[in-house]
Amino acid sequence: MYPVGLIVGHGYVKAVAGGRSAIFPAVAAPAGAADYESAVATGARAVRLNGSAWLVGQEALAFAPQRLVSILDRSRYQSPSFVALARHALAQVAPPGGPMAVMTGMPAAWFADGAARAALEGAVRAAGSDWDVFNVSVAPEAAGVFYAAVFAGGALDLTSTRGAVGVIDAGYRDVNVALFHDGRYVSGESVPGGMADALREVRRLISRQYGLELALHEVDAAVRAGGLDLAGVSRPLPEGTEAALLRSLDTVVATGRSLWPNGGRGLRALVLGGGGAVALGPALHAAFPQLSVPGADLRGLAPEQLRAMIAAAQPQLAGARGFAAVAAARQQR
Ligand SMILES: Nc1ncnc2c1ncn2[C@@H]1O[C@H](COP(=O)(O)OP(=O)(O)OP(=O)(O)O)[C@@H](O)[C@H]1O
Ligand SMILES: [Mg+2]
Repeated sequence: MYPVGLIVGHGYVKAVAGGRSAIFPAVAAPAGAADYESAVATGARAVRLNGSAWLVGQEALAFAPQRLVSILDRSRYQSPSFVALARHALAQVAPPGGPMAVMTGMPAAWFADGAARAALEGAVRAAGSDWDVFNVSVAPEAAGVFYAAVFAGGALDLTSTRGAVGVIDAGYRDVNVALFHDGRYVSGESVPGGMADALREVRRLISRQYGLELALHEVDAAVRAGGLDLAGVSRPLPEGTEAALLRSLDTVVATGRSLWPNGGRGLRALVLGGGGAVALGPALHAAFPQLSVPGADLRGLAPEQLRAMIAAAQPQLAGARGFAAVAAARQQR
């Protein structure tokens, strides 16, 4: 039995099962004959569905950049491109064929929509048709970050689920600010302007300073690396990059202060996850000293040490890790 945590985000697909994990850009492209062959020549594999073949992630970006499919509204669950992304993620973490239980997430704002929930469950079952999928459960994505904190010690820590717990899931498209009480999702708000907006601004700065037109995923890689490679010479990120990455900070802080009891002081714990945690973490820690990142011990660190410690804990995988832990715990009952 493979308990799998799966999140097909707007920027990246994440999957975790046991000790394995996968992350790749959430873009797919129908595999046309020509680029399919050039992709296959490099060892890339197309994802096969009933009657169609798809390139996904880096392969789609490299071999079919003109035909990328990336659907951002809830109709995505009805698209074969979504099924291809989920199938590729499952194949990275679960050995072929066996029985599997999948816990997955959707943006909290769509969670009340029963039809969308059913469509997501159907898409994950279709993605898992090569396995024996006996259970698919769906939760708001922020719950995955919450569970990652609850299970951070390896087993369920019941005391950490009591009372009011705040969650910030800093993603590619938006930053989700949520409140949990006694282990249950209570409410949340989505602050538009996730990493994608910041990266678009950094792209403009790079174009202005270096005359270089990069794709958003290339800008993303440069920000992660902390610099650019120009014809073999490494150059710093343009001035203004840091400000661009922190553009959503004030709104996130204000949203938390209005959503959480006592402006945040009434929280038992505040958990930060999502890939945007690396850029926003140090500043959020200054605003909310009780902030924690699953898998990272931030106590006693100087502000300039926070970023590296948060990055090392791979907060981008936190949600999928949390869902995998819940799927595993449910089997042991
Ligand atoms: N080590 C890192 N340093 C800097 N940025 C990082 C790092 N790791 C991840 N990120 C950023 O995290 C972002 C993606 O985060 P994530 O995968 O949580 O988004 P998503 O879940 O796909 O989006 P959404 O939640 O809006 O659907 C990327 O844009 C990337 O730049
Ligand atoms: Mg996300």
